[in-house]
Amino acid sequence: MTRNSTNDEPRTQVQSSSGQIMTAMPLGSLLIGVCGSSAAESTGELAEEALRYANDITVVATRTAAALFVSDLPVPLYTDADWIDKPLHVTLLQQADTLVIAPATATTLAKAAAGIADTLVTALICAHGPGVYFQPCMNARMWTSPAVRRAVDTLRGDGHHVLEPGPVASRASRTVGSGVGEIPGNVLATVAEHKRESGRN
Ligand SMILES: Cc1cc2nc3c(=O)[nH]c(=O)nc-3n(C[C@H](O)[C@H](O)[C@H](O)COP(=O)(O)O)c2cc1C
Repeated sequence: MTRNSTNDEPRTQVQSSSGQIMTAMPLGSLLIGVCGSSAAESTGELAEEALRYANDITVVATRTAAALFVSDLPVPLYTDADWIDKPLHVTLLQQADTLVIAPATATTLAKAAAGIADTLVTALICAHGPGVYFQPCMNARMWTSPAVRRAVDTLRGDGHHVLEPGPVASRASRTVGSGVGEIPGNVLATVAEHKRESGRN
C-alpha cells in the first residue's frame, strides 16, 4: 500500500505535567479501532504510519479482526478478551485525543449508529461522543446498501466523521466485483488535516 503522507507535519512544542518540553503531534494520543475487514491486514503498516502523526498509538481490535487479521503489532493491542474486569472503554478514552476506526465494517457502522456497545470497539465509540473518525472498508455492494447508507447518515448527523472509502478492491471485495475495500493510504493525513482545520474554526 502506498501512503501519501509527508514528514513535514506542523508540530507544536508543549510542556508536559512534569515540565518537560515535548513535541505535540497532530493526532496526540491516538486510539485506533480495528474491525473485521480484510483491510485490517494492513494494521501494522497503519500503526507504523501513525508514528508520523501521533505521540502514542494504541490499537483495539474486534473479535473478528483479532481472530483473522491482526497480530504482532509494534504498539499496544487490546481485544475483547482484555475487557473482562477493567473498564477499558473508559480508561482508554481518558488517555486518548483521537479515535479513528480503521477499517470500519458495515457491522460496526450499524452498531455505532444504533448505540450498540457490545464490543470494546463499539463501547469506545458510544462512550466517546461526537468526533469519532470512521474509515469504512467494504465492497461496493455493502457500501451502497440502504442499511449502510442509513448508518452513515446517522453517524454524520450525530457529529462523527465518516470518511469516503478507498477505490481499490480488497481480496474479499474482488469476489463480488468492484469494491472499496482497502484503507486509503492517506487516512491519517486526512484526519490530521481535518483536526487542524477544525482547530482553526
Ligand atoms: C475474510 C473476510 C473478510 C471480510 N471483509 C469485510 C470487509 O471488508 N468489510 C466488512 O464490512 N465486513 C467484512 N467481513 C465481514 C465482517 O468480518 C463481519 O461482518 C463481522 O461481523 C464484523 O464484525 P466487527 O465489525 O465487530 O469486526 C469480512 C469477513 C471475512 C471472513
